[in-house]
Amino acid sequence: MQAAVKATIETGADYSIEYRTFWKDGSTHWAEVRAQLYKDRFGKATKLVGVSADVTSRVEAEEYQRQLNETLEERVAERTRELEQAHAAVMAEINQRERAEEQLRHAQKMDAIGQLTGGVAHDFNNLLMAVLGNLELLRKYVGEDAKALRLIDGAQQGAQRGASLTQRLLAFSRKQDLRIDDVDMRALVLGMEDLLRRSVGSTIVIRTVAPDNLPLVSADANQVELALLNLAVNARDAMPEGGTIQIELRQTDLTSSTVELSPGGYVVLSVADDGNGMSEETLKKAVEPFFSTKELGKGTGLGLSMIHGLALQLRGHLNLASSLGEGTTAELWIPVSTSVMAEQVFPISAPPTTGKPSGPKRILLVDDDFLIAMSSADMLMDLGHDVVEAHSGAEALKLFGEGRDFDLLITDYSMPGMTGGELAKAVRTIAPNLPILIASGYSELPPGLELEVARLGKPYSQDQLAQEINKVLASSRPIKP
Ligand SMILES: Nc1ncnc2c1ncn2[C@@H]1O[C@H](COP(=O)(O)OP(=O)(O)OP(=O)(O)O)[C@@H](O)[C@H]1O
Ligand SMILES: [Mg+2]
Repeated sequence: MQAAVKATIETGADYSIEYRTFWKDGSTHWAEVRAQLYKDRFGKATKLVGVSADVTSRVEAEEYQRQLNETLEERVAERTRELEQAHAAVMAEINQRERAEEQLRHAQKMDAIGQLTGGVAHDFNNLLMAVLGNLELLRKYVGEDAKALRLIDGAQQGAQRGASLTQRLLAFSRKQDLRIDDVDMRALVLGMEDLLRRSVGSTIVIRTVAPDNLPLVSADANQVELALLNLAVNARDAMPEGGTIQIELRQTDLTSSTVELSPGGYVVLSVADDGNGMSEETLKKAVEPFFSTKELGKGTGLGLSMIHGLALQLRGHLNLASSLGEGTTAELWIPVSTSVMAEQVFPISAPPTTGKPSGPKRILLVDDDFLIAMSSADMLMDLGHDVVEAHSGAEALKLFGEGRDFDLLITDYSMPGMTGGELAKAVRTIAPNLPILIASGYSELPPGLELEVARLGKPYSQDQLAQEINKVLASSRPIKP
């Protein structure tokens, strides 16, 4: 204040000052003073004339506004951050949904291909069965004619190759006959080591990590072995200069469901190589049937398709991760077994079989396919049995209605009108002790079929047929209702 007075006296400028005062009650106030300098006629400063005002409320209002402006900037920045976060979250969600949709589309596509392949494979399986059956009988009739035998050999080999191809197609389309049992994956993997080493050759090192406290899984041991072999061969093919295959088992518990898997315990069999890897394009198509990048005649493109089908049929999942030059990891997820003890699905306590017929039997043979019915009937008659053919469940039941008596019923499973399972159920009410053999290329004896029946996988040879008949007749015992 003193400085301001001094400045006004010296320069003649208006006096203008704003200052803070503390009152006795402790409160703070602001004063504004404005004044003009008056001089006498000799030019000497005599007085200051002006006003003094209490501007506390104005100053406080200004201060409030200033603070408000400051925090406003802060609030805008804060809100912008929030919006950015929300945007990122939405984008992540969209990406995730797109990925899930892509997975779903892929699953649906595989499903559609599976249905188609399964249908075709099923029909082919039946046809090949007739071909193989007839060739087998023909072989007996031609006797010692070497040339004819060679021709039959060729035809049989061709048909057998076709049969193994259809088998793989059925595997892909989840219609293969599985023998589900409790499987110790560690024992399975360790048991395969030698075979795998021999299959991949000496330039490739196989490393196995198999912890010994894994739970049992619910699977078909043979098919899982085949899957492991296929994965190892794929890894070998991706490492022409040699490398390492790491085979690893681990247990994983899923607490929530994913696109592919429901919650629960799984044992994961992973096969990793450090080979060529796959491009994104190849990886997308790798499990499709007949997709192969291998030269003609080298790969059928059914290896991964089979494993994919097997995984689904086991309620598990095949997961592939790969990028070019980075190697590949294939994971087969198999659900942990829920049964306390291994429960045999089709308990047939069979004595060692000789393959020889146990005397002529009266057999009722049911198959909707005339060709197969005929060739199977021929096989049975060739084994010395009496055969009555029926071409539908209804026709078969009618024979029982007419009072016909049989020692054995052999029926196809998938037939229009009445399935082999339904026929078996109906027959059990008429002839409770009649042994029944269900022949099927499908694995799907559905869960509703609570019957103890013996199974015969299609296509079957005459020997297999004879063996199964012996087994089922030997174990025929009072049957649970
Ligand atoms: N470990 C791997 N590394 C690189 N590429 C792989 C690997 N496994 C599979 N692939 C690719 O996926 C394709 C399909 O594999 P899949 O096993 O189904 O058929 P394939 O091996 O070609 O023939 P097949 O197994 O019927 O003899 C292969 O041709 C290959 O391009
Ligand atoms: Mg393969």
